[in-house]
Amino acid sequence: MSSTISTTIIGVAGGSASGKSTLVRKLQEAFVEEHVTTLCHDFYYKAHDELTLEERAKLNYDHPHSFDTDMMIEHIRQLKQGESIQRPVYSFNDHNRLPQTVLVHPAKVLILDGILILENKELRELMDVKVYVDTDDDVRLARRLVRDVQERGRDMNSVLKQYFSTVKPMHRDFVEPSKRYADIIIPEGGMNPVALSLLVENIHSLLR
Ligand code: C5P
Ligand code: MG
Repeated sequence: MSSTISTTIIGVAGGSASGKSTLVRKLQEAFVEEHVTTLCHDFYYKAHDELTLEERAKLNYDHPHSFDTDMMIEHIRQLKQGESIQRPVYSFNDHNRLPQTVLVHPAKVLILDGILILENKELRELMDVKVYVDTDDDVRLARRLVRDVQERGRDMNSVLKQYFSTVKPMHRDFVEPSKRYADIIIPEGGMNPVALSLLVENIHSLLR
């Protein structure tokens, strides 16, 4: 199936709890007139039906291999070609992919969000604008602690244990080094109105 719409792809990377989702929400608000769709790398975490919940909770979720990035790339290509896709649904409470999928239609603006989306060469080459949200580690840990307890069904000890065993070392080895591929580095993501308006203006000019 072919289509006449062309898709502008914006990638929003940055460490866990850096403010990516807030920035993405503000971009969506700024482009309500356009057709905007967001795909999170998180949707594409690999399924682990072969493991128990307790075993799944101990996996490293911050290494590039924990994602089915090939499936995400394939879905982006299909959307670019004007085809709709069925994206996977991931549960942070179950540490697993859920049986249902969500129908996603092609859009003029496609936003990609994830800690490691700039790490993968094939993925970043699909992007027209590459953003890295840069937020201090202590701020990110504090936010993550609150969020994972309130929204992702975790307790404080497990969040801290995971942070020091995998989140922090993988951030240092893979997430932070991918910053070099960004076109724009935004301190504090969605909480930075000046950077947001510059980015919005830039995307508008790409759409014209
Ligand atoms: O929203 P955010 O970018 O923080 O989401 C990515 C984080 O989700 C990763 O740092 C990873 O440790 C975490 N994660 C998790 N449990 C899973 C899957 C991902 O804590 N089952
Ligand atoms: Mg997020």
